[in-house]
Amino acid sequence: MTKADFGIIGLAVMGENLARNLLSKGIKIAVYDRAPDRTVRAFLQRCGAETAGAYSLAELTDSLARPRMILMMIRAGSPVDEVIGQLLPLLEPGDILIDGGNSNFRDTIRRTRLVESYGLLYVGMGVSGGEEGALKGPSLMPGGSPAAWPHIQPILQAIAAQADGVPCCDWVGRDGAGHYIKMVHNGIEYGDMQLICEAYDLMRTLLCMQPEEMAQVFTAWNDGVLKSYLIKITAQILQMKDADESALVDKILDAAGQKGTGKWACAEALQEGVPLPLFAEAVFARCLAANRDQRLRLNRALPIATSTFAGDRAALLKDLEQALYAAKILSYAQGFSLMRAAARTHNWGLRYGSIALLWRGGCIIRSAFLGKIKEAFDREPDLENLMLDEYFARALQQGHAGLRAVCAAAALHGVPAPALQSALAYFDACRSARLPANLLQAQRDYFGAHTYERVDEPRGAFFHTNWTGEGGDTSATAYSV
Ligand code: 6PG
Repeated sequence: MTKADFGIIGLAVMGENLARNLLSKGIKIAVYDRAPDRTVRAFLQRCGAETAGAYSLAELTDSLARPRMILMMIRAGSPVDEVIGQLLPLLEPGDILIDGGNSNFRDTIRRTRLVESYGLLYVGMGVSGGEEGALKGPSLMPGGSPAAWPHIQPILQAIAAQADGVPCCDWVGRDGAGHYIKMVHNGIEYGDMQLICEAYDLMRTLLCMQPEEMAQVFTAWNDGVLKSYLIKITAQILQMKDADESALVDKILDAAGQKGTGKWACAEALQEGVPLPLFAEAVFARCLAANRDQRLRLNRALPIATSTFAGDRAALLKDLEQALYAAKILSYAQGFSLMRAAARTHNWGLRYGSIALLWRGGCIIRSAFLGKIKEAFDREPDLENLMLDEYFARALQQGHAGLRAVCAAAALHGVPAPALQSALAYFDACRSARLPANLLQAQRDYFGAHTYERVDEPRGAFFHTNWTGEGGDTSATAYSV
């Protein structure tokens, strides 16, 4: 039997669908799963005439042409380390191991070093698009050992989504860069989802709209600047009926789940000192929603006085569309700022326009808007913040009035809109020539002799005041975080 070109470990839904995608492109594959008697056999029966089924890792490595290319689609965390440990003695120099799970990029950095020390190549690859994307064309974000790319490129680009004829798969950078980009993708995904949920809540609570009516609004928005996969599926979700013909969305418990990648993005932002408030609000909104029992107790103790909107409903809906677009720009501005900081810290040399193109198709955040981000980075490859690009600056100038009106209405009527409101605060704070940090610095110097800089002295000169007349003139050791 001729050797297979590509191996897959893990035949859960993502692994199986990627395997079927590879088969549909005429790529000869070998498959293995830790429960081979059940899973591998079932896969071969369903779609396997041409597939090499392996019942052990040794059988899998034996059935692959060299250099071996093996994609692990298994649960992130210790299972990845275990499989790597079992594979290392079975592989030969130049073989390539790919992790397609949602692994933490720090683990991927460590694993790249380990695997490379055996003369092998390692790739940590972000995969986005869910089950359907895996089958029909996902967005793929590979990074790791650069020498792996020429070998895996033709296969990965063949199975990836295509946007305007360009594959949504390109090399991202060294060691953990691929999984870092996927982590930021997921932070953006959290932000987009939370913003849409807040728009839905405002329509439901302020305007007393029914799911069907809201679906029409989302459908109309999907023809404009908000056109995206998440807006499209929201319209479809709102139209879905339960068995009794009522709206299914109203029957779903409002207790959110999450697997952790959004939290990782926020932790990394704190580490880098990059403001990422919208992502953080999106994660906290899930935490808050998850704690439903406490919410219900507080609702009884402190009933919320939401009131319906008595103003111009059509104008509010227009403002809402503008608010979503402005907040979306601000959210992506935060995500790209984080990647910029990480690229410096980890020496990755990220190409931001190319990253925007990876997300144009196949992934959960796919949208026409990402084409605009690509254009912005074409104009200025080292763009410091998306808000500084002429297109996005104009869009924000036009859209922030809508965002302001929506945030004000939400506050006045008692509807929580944390992501929209934090987007507005970020926008205003980022543009402020003077923030109240002068007072903050004075407070720090008052109680801790932490020193301050002065407006009438050059930057970098630090001063201390003996505020009470009782402290000394000695300042604390200078340090900054
Ligand atoms: C994707 C998604 C996916 C993620 C799920 C669940 O790009 O296909 O980001 O990788 O795992 O969306 O994420 P949460 O459970 O954290 O919502």
